[in-house]
Amino acid sequence: MDIFDKCLKFTRAKEAMEMGIYPYFKPIQENHGPRVIMDGKEIIMIGSNNYLGLTKDPRVQEAAIKAIEKYGTSCSGSRFLNGTLELHEELEEKLAAFVKKESALCFSTGYQSNLGAISTLLTKDDLIITDKTNHASIFDGIFLSAGLHMGANIKRYKHNDMDDLERVLSKLESDIPKMIITDGVFSMEGDLVNLPRLVELAGKYRARVYVDDAHGLGVEGETGRGTQEYYNIWDEVDLVMCTFSKSFASLGGFIAGKSEVIHYIKHFARPLIFSASMPPANIATVLKTLEIIQKEPQIVHRLQKIGQKMIREFQALGFNTGESKTPIVPIIIGNDDKTFQFWAILFQNGVYSNPVISPAVPPDRALIRTSYMATHEDRDLDIVLDKFKKIGKEMGII
Ligand SMILES: Cc1ncc(COP(=O)(O)O)c(C=O)c1O
Repeated sequence: MDIFDKCLKFTRAKEAMEMGIYPYFKPIQENHGPRVIMDGKEIIMIGSNNYLGLTKDPRVQEAAIKAIEKYGTSCSGSRFLNGTLELHEELEEKLAAFVKKESALCFSTGYQSNLGAISTLLTKDDLIITDKTNHASIFDGIFLSAGLHMGANIKRYKHNDMDDLERVLSKLESDIPKMIITDGVFSMEGDLVNLPRLVELAGKYRARVYVDDAHGLGVEGETGRGTQEYYNIWDEVDLVMCTFSKSFASLGGFIAGKSEVIHYIKHFARPLIFSASMPPANIATVLKTLEIIQKEPQIVHRLQKIGQKMIREFQALGFNTGESKTPIVPIIIGNDDKTFQFWAILFQNGVYSNPVISPAVPPDRALIRTSYMATHEDRDLDIVLDKFKKIGKEMGII
């Protein structure tokens, strides 16, 4: 037996490649925001998390270039040691104010933000209660805690099901330290957490609340402040996490909450301490996008309007868009093969989307994840709807 045997036996991806239906790792040759060049062809992009379309905004690009000119391309070290710039601290202050918390702490990716914050707070004496469909980085944060502390206590509840959450909470010892973790906007299906009920239960059963708002900030709320703003619920959310790889057009992430909690995470989070800090261009990008979001809330409104239009139009065509209320609009097909086939025909027709199968969604709930940018033009959206209608009819889905 050889440790590499499993690699030789893994043939599924190669089979799909030979059949011409392999949808992953497809290189983009040119990025023009809502349109990209792939396989030498112009393609409408509805598979990106560049929600505000700011990755190609000249103001954002200029800020990134200036930061490189001033500080160089890398911080060459951890935040803990030589890797903190004044820019990191400026960004943390502004982010804390944006999400209405006392303090914020930036990590080099969103994934590391969840990994660091959760693994630091959860010891074997505490308990995490998590939605079953939360992002993988939340589960990995819990698994890392288990490794670090020789065990971690975790309970899962059914997706966004507050009765099931109460069932779980009511069985727990009342004085065990606990925290409920949820996505604000669920990443695959674009539905919003039932935050009013969740915080009510957290109060009743004395649990802390942690919201991963990767797909909420810049997307939801009148001024893009995310799930908290959508519901106007602020103080009952103890910790807010977000990534910079979506609305903020960069790479990195942060956690925000009470100063003492953030101070503690800052001194114990291994994914922060043992990894190099966000490079200057990435920080400057987020600073600029944050400024644009605050000065131009109309881009957030445009994105919201596009999301509502696409949900309405897809439903009118007879597609199942689940419970989405956001610019993430799933087209639920159910069967994996049909989903890949739909994806491939759509791509041949000049539209890039994301096919999603189990374990990212429950089995029999395979879907085409579509997501929109504030910079999509109406004519892009109309072409997309037209292609979906044609393919949906041909495949007997609508
Ligand atoms: C809900 C959620 N949390 C965390 C992350 C991780 O963020 P990043 O891609 O910046 O590492 C993602 C990204 O896919 C996400 O969707």
